Amino acid sequence: MDPAETYDLLRNLTTPVVAITSARNGKLNGMITDGAIRASIVPDVPRLVIQIHKWHLTHEIVSETGRFAAHLLHRGQVDVVTKLGFASGRDTDKLAGLPHRIGATGCPILEDCYAWFDCTVINRMDAGSQTLFLGQAMDVGRGRGEEVLEPAHLREALPPEFRDRYPRNLAAAQDRARPLAWLFTPTAG
Ligand SMILES: Cc1cc2nc3c(=O)[nH]c(=O)nc-3n(C[C@H](O)[C@H](O)[C@H](O)COP(=O)(O)O)c2cc1C
Repeated sequence: MDPAETYDLLRNLTTPVVAITSARNGKLNGMITDGAIRASIVPDVPRLVIQIHKWHLTHEIVSETGRFAAHLLHRGQVDVVTKLGFASGRDTDKLAGLPHRIGATGCPILEDCYAWFDCTVINRMDAGSQTLFLGQAMDVGRGRGEEVLEPAHLREALPPEFRDRYPRNLAAAQDRARPLAWLFTPTAG
C-alpha cells in the first residue's frame, strides 16, 4: 500500500491529546502527545505507555529521572497544546503561566486538566526514533471538564497560525524520525 495511505490508516490509532510533564534539577517541562495508551486492565495497577521522540527535552528528562506525569486534557484546553506542543523546553520555560503544583514523583501536576496520572517508569522500549516508556501511576486525580480533547476536535479548534504550523512540524519530525526508525528493520521470514 502507498505509505501515505498506510499512515492515514495508522492515524486512526491516535489517542486523546495528553500533556506530559517532567522535572529535573528544578527545571520543569511539558510536551504534548497523542500516543498515550492504557497498559493495564487491573484497576489497582494503573499503567500507561507514552511514546516520546528521542530529540525532545522531555525524552532526556524522563530517561534520566524515570518520572513523568500524564494529563488528559479537556476540550477547553487548546491553549495548553499551543503552549507545550510547538516549542522545545530547551528554548523557553513552558510551565510559566500554567498553574501547577509539584506531585508525588516531583513532576508538575497541572491545576487544570480532565485527569492526571503521576507516574514512575517501570520499563522502556527503544523503538528507534522514539522510546516507549511504561509508567505506573503512583497517584491519580480527576480534574474538570466534561469531554477529553480528541485530535479531531483539536484540529478544528487550533488557531489559524498553529493550524498551519502543525503539518509543517509533523513533516519535519517525520524527516527526523525516518533514518532512526530504519535502525530496526524486520528480516524476512
Ligand atoms: C497534537 C500533537 C501531538 C504530538 N504528539 C507527539 C508524540 O506522540 N510524540 C512526540 O514525541 N512528540 C509529539 N508532539 C510534539 C511535541 O509535543 C513537541 O515537539 C514538543 O515541543 C516537545 O517539547 P520538549 O522538547 O520540550 O520536550 C506532538 C505535538 C502535538 C501538537
